[in-house]
Amino acid sequence: MEVIYFMMHAKSNNKILITGGYGYIGSHTIVALHTVGYEVIVVDNLSNSTKKIGKNLEIICKKTHKLYEINILNFDELLNCFIKEKPAAVIHFAGLKAVEESVKNPLLYYQNNIQGTINLLDIMGKVDCNNIIFSSSATVYGNPSEMPINEKHILNAINPYGSTKIFCEKIIDDWVKVNKKRSSTILRYFNPIGAHESYLIGDNPNSVPNNLMPYIVSVANGTSEKVSIFGDDYPTKDGTGIRDYIHVMDLAEAHVLAILNDQRGRSRVYNLGTGKGISVLELIKTFEIENKVKVKYTVSSRREGDAAEVYADVKLVKNQLNWSANRTLKEMCKSAWSFGKNL
Ligand code: NAD
Ligand code: WQD
Repeated sequence: MEVIYFMMHAKSNNKILITGGYGYIGSHTIVALHTVGYEVIVVDNLSNSTKKIGKNLEIICKKTHKLYEINILNFDELLNCFIKEKPAAVIHFAGLKAVEESVKNPLLYYQNNIQGTINLLDIMGKVDCNNIIFSSSATVYGNPSEMPINEKHILNAINPYGSTKIFCEKIIDDWVKVNKKRSSTILRYFNPIGAHESYLIGDNPNSVPNNLMPYIVSVANGTSEKVSIFGDDYPTKDGTGIRDYIHVMDLAEAHVLAILNDQRGRSRVYNLGTGKGISVLELIKTFEIENKVKVKYTVSSRREGDAAEVYADVKLVKNQLNWSANRTLKEMCKSAWSFGKNL
């Protein structure tokens, strides 16, 4: 950490603008940025978060930050924010992320995620802000043809949400090519779970959770009745689906390294996962044992579009950013419950 602190102070402008900063991953990344001394500006329309996150961040970090309650689709308001703040770099989390909703309402996703990103890049160009870190997803690989998945794997989204991530990656890549001062880092997250050790921030979706871990939490705390395991007849060790679950604080720290190791003129892409596959049953069992709670479940049919197994090849990010995930599955399960039991 000391080395990071020193490197950070070698940079003159410490201000990072975070779109979607009050969301699940954004809020954890703000903690990681504050830890090494960055100043943070948040842009969020609070469509999937609340102002209380801001208060909790100030308790955790003992530092303040500015919130601009702005929709990134509002070009003029966003431009004014950039003119006023003159950030050195942007981490772009703001986006809609529910796969099923994206199938039902694709235009909402194309507009929010793609038009939002275009606005942001356009404005960054106007104010000479040249470095962007973008939240992409393992969803860009669709149903993968080889395991583990490395960054060269063909991109093949199978739903509108995934398509927005592929388009945004491409748009950012083209934006960088225009000017040698520009740079981007595309981070493809696998399955982030868990919470910060303060348990003041965590995964707290505004509606019924779709992802497995928040669903497990909602069953354990009595909000939902039981987990439906989507298929136990996959060709995996126990028949249930395998994913690469990663602690959200490990993920957050990767963003700090991406900013610190920025290289002008370059577009980089990294997978962020642990490189290890965990089954649905393993996750439920670990959660039960670590937290001494019962999680009722039943086996139902496969969910359409699900792959049997998805886990990352994480060599590239280890080699280039010297980052690897080091928190355990037990820590992920414990922190998810410590945050979620009172929701
Ligand atoms: P989240 O919904 O918790 O956070 C997103 C934040 O963006 C919210 O606070 C929301 O209010 C804000 N937002 C959305 N649209 C906006 C707009 N038009 N203008 C301003 N603010 C807006 O989601 P998250 O889990 O923190 O995900 C962050 C990013 O990471 C997203 O882009 C998501 O697609 C991506 N991602 C998430 C996961 C995951 O499993 N959580 C996995 C891979 C990629
Ligand atoms: C994990 C495993 C399910 C819920 C999704 C998005 C992806 C990314 C991460 C944003 C699978 C099983 C799940 C349940 C279950 N998000 N499951 N019962 O599908 O890997 O990826 O979130 O970018 O884009 O597609 O994550 O948490 O939904 O599922 O059995 O109620 O749990 O079948 O094997 P997934 P998930």
